Amino acid sequence: MRRAVIAGNWKMHKTQAETRAFFDRFRPLVAGAQHCEIVIAPPFTSLTAAVESSRGTAIAIGAQDVHWETQGAFTGEVSAGMLVEAGCRYVIIGHSERRQHFGETDEWVLRKTRAALAAGLVPIVCVGETLPQRETGQTEAVLERQFRLGLAALTVEEFSRIILAYEPVWAIGTGRTATPELAAEAHRFLREQAAEKFGRTASGALRILYGGSVKPENIGGLMAQPEIDGVLVGGASLEAESFAAIVNF
Ligand code: 13P
Repeated sequence: MRRAVIAGNWKMHKTQAETRAFFDRFRPLVAGAQHCEIVIAPPFTSLTAAVESSRGTAIAIGAQDVHWETQGAFTGEVSAGMLVEAGCRYVIIGHSERRQHFGETDEWVLRKTRAALAAGLVPIVCVGETLPQRETGQTEAVLERQFRLGLAALTVEEFSRIILAYEPVWAIGTGRTATPELAAEAHRFLREQAAEKFGRTASGALRILYGGSVKPENIGGLMAQPEIDGVLVGGASLEAESFAAIVNF
């Protein structure tokens, strides 16, 4: 059985004070939730506030990015060990916004994933096609390439510790969710890639999250798909009430 993961990616939202205020409202709303792992990924500067505010609860904290080196002259970057020390247990890697706006490549995704695993973090590795890629029938080729270059060089043991997130770029922040069937189709394709490279046991255990305009109104339909093992939520994770409604789907 694959345990569901409901993760919130706050992107560049929430100061420390706003983070504490969120957790004050959110904690009681999800106190009874035991059916899934709950992860929240605030900006770097709010990680410590989130870790402190979630102490003693089942809510885990993740970062939104990581560098692959342990330390060095890399201005503006943060290492996996630093994230662990700050109390993070997860880290999002290869989000489409990093790929689009900051030049992140599949090669970087691989390096970052290895560094995160070496430090004991759970990487949530994002893949997904853009609208032009989907409209020109390239979805599977894009997913295959992102998987092959970003993940296929991992060992089976390393691969068994990652979470994959399918986030079609055209569904992110647009209000245009992929239908549950369409998302499930992409998830099946990704699981097949995993089976070919890492075998049936590893692919059967792999959790694949869907991300892109997930809301309280559509979480039920998405989670009804056996192929969808959870969600990565942007906008709707910023409000305690809406994120709690998603967690308690
Ligand atoms: P939205 O839920 O705002 O579409 O964002 C999805 C996302 O990018 C999560 O990582």
